Amino acid sequence: MPKILFVCLGNICRSPLAEGIMLHLNEKHDLKLEIDSAGTASYHIGEAPDDRTIANAKKNGVDLSKLRARQFSASDFDKFDFIYVMDKNNLKNVLSLAKNDSHKQKVSLFLDTLHPGENLEVPDPYYGTEKNFEEVFQLVYKACDHLRVNIK
Ligand code: 4NP
Repeated sequence: MPKILFVCLGNICRSPLAEGIMLHLNEKHDLKLEIDSAGTASYHIGEAPDDRTIANAKKNGVDLSKLRARQFSASDFDKFDFIYVMDKNNLKNVLSLAKNDSHKQKVSLFLDTLHPGENLEVPDPYYGTEKNFEEVFQLVYKACDHLRVNIK
């Protein structure tokens, strides 16, 4: 049962979206994955995802309303098999907490699953428009669906 953790900065936009989409696919395809998300920052601990993220995901058939933000911790390296990070800044921050190579090997940019080696980032929609939230949804959905087919 692969254990997957998605990580962004606040854990209220991109990573809970990935968690919610993956939970949705997990149920739909009976995948038996363990899925969670976290933020590298502490700003939003305990909060539900951003209202705009919730509304956009709902429009696309994914419920995020029960998720709550938490901060990434070094203990997550032992709890998860795959740690997918949304952008390069957060990748750097997560890797800085790794204590050994086995920890480091679990961490990668999420979009590397779709475009290996291209170092692409999931853009942060926090300061963006409704259109940006929809674009992020479509991008994250595509990457989650690719993961669903390929994860072992
Ligand atoms: P996320 O987006 O990292 O995708 O959850 C953000 C959420 C909040 C903030 C920044 C990014 N913030 O500065 O509060």
